[in-house]
Amino acid sequence: MLRLLTAGESHGRALVGIIEGVPSNMELSAGYIDRQLFRRQQGYGRGGRMKIETDKVEILTGVRHGKTLGSPISLVIWNRDFENWEDKMAVEAVLKEIEKVVIARPGHADLVGKYKYFFDDIRNVIERASARETAMRVALSAVARKLLSDLGIKIGSHVFSIGTASYKDRDSIDSVLLGILGRKNGAEGVSDEADKSEVRCLDENVASKMVQQIKRAKKSGDTLGGVVEVYVTGLPIGLGSYVEFDRKIDGQLAQAMMSIQAIKGVEIGEGFENAGKFGSEVHDEILLRNRKIVRLTNRAGGLEGGVTNGQPLWIRAAMKPISTLMKPLRSVDLSKMKPAEARRERSDFCAVPAAGVVAENVVAPVLANAVLEKFGGDSMGELKQRFAQEAFFG
Ligand SMILES: Cc1cc2nc3c(=O)[nH]c(=O)nc-3n(C[C@H](O)[C@H](O)[C@H](O)COP(=O)(O)O)c2cc1C
Repeated sequence: MLRLLTAGESHGRALVGIIEGVPSNMELSAGYIDRQLFRRQQGYGRGGRMKIETDKVEILTGVRHGKTLGSPISLVIWNRDFENWEDKMAVEAVLKEIEKVVIARPGHADLVGKYKYFFDDIRNVIERASARETAMRVALSAVARKLLSDLGIKIGSHVFSIGTASYKDRDSIDSVLLGILGRKNGAEGVSDEADKSEVRCLDENVASKMVQQIKRAKKSGDTLGGVVEVYVTGLPIGLGSYVEFDRKIDGQLAQAMMSIQAIKGVEIGEGFENAGKFGSEVHDEILLRNRKIVRLTNRAGGLEGGVTNGQPLWIRAAMKPISTLMKPLRSVDLSKMKPAEARRERSDFCAVPAAGVVAENVVAPVLANAVLEKFGGDSMGELKQRFAQEAFFG
């Protein structure tokens, strides 16, 4: 089973991570991981930090001559911005006075972190709660993504809405998606197409409305959120299980997605909209065609009873608007216990396109774990052979 651990402060020396449980003999290069890191840094609406950092991973252990060893794989991403923060983020005590952060930003971990960990400097909270952590999470997840990809399981995402700029109805996007998902590259094709747009949107008209909204928000010192969709193709029937709550793969996927900074809602398929419909409008009928079982719709989003059903997996996630506003909200100076304006830390205005890339990657360890649980294997050869012989797609 895969185990992942990340560490690192946003402006510290580096982000580090370990992934353990990857079978041996899987081809893996830093370049493969870097591609996901690059994608995470794109998107209209990002702030100044992304101009400083060009994230590149170094593989420190667990890989030899381009192939995994079956041993723990450790990664490092150096923070280029650290050179501007050496004193503020020094590991050793420093003699000079470092200005403390004492005003909490609403919507951040600032206030709760200060009281939970008993700090007089909110900098200690900001540094770890920051979404900079997602760089390492994406890097580790990309290793799991490679394992899935080698088995033909492909992942992709696109941005469904930013602010109120959205597709006018489901049909207008579904027809486009169906065409892409049916191609050789499966769900990865969704990302290939989405990545051509600066807001990762598949429709040019909707994309230009999204850009306009971000421009307007930026001008007025405000921020925006939105909805992203993740798709996975090539999944066999039977990953996850209904027999115990913690083995249900929908629960595990929701945890992975919800733990991404600023994600506040997760749906499998159109979970919330389906809640308002009749059962006859929602459930995917089971039909026979030439003695084969077929489904003409996929409203369940590829999961029934917490188990993959052979249909493309479809997960939606809602991101709240970025919490740091250039037109600050009201807050409190916690050193003086007096009203104050929230601090303006360098920030994105909208990070929905990047959140889609993060979401796409964090589902990979969940699915790779389920694959390893069902098919097993210490080496990639063993896993591939078992998968080819035993995977049932319906
Ligand atoms: C890719 C990505 C980039 C983000 N960039 C920022 C940012 O620049 N400024 C900001 O205030 N919040 C940003 N966030 C969101 C915050 O990290 C998040 O809202 C905060 O840590 C509080 O956690 P919570 O929203 O999950 O409760 C970003 C989130 C993601 C996924």
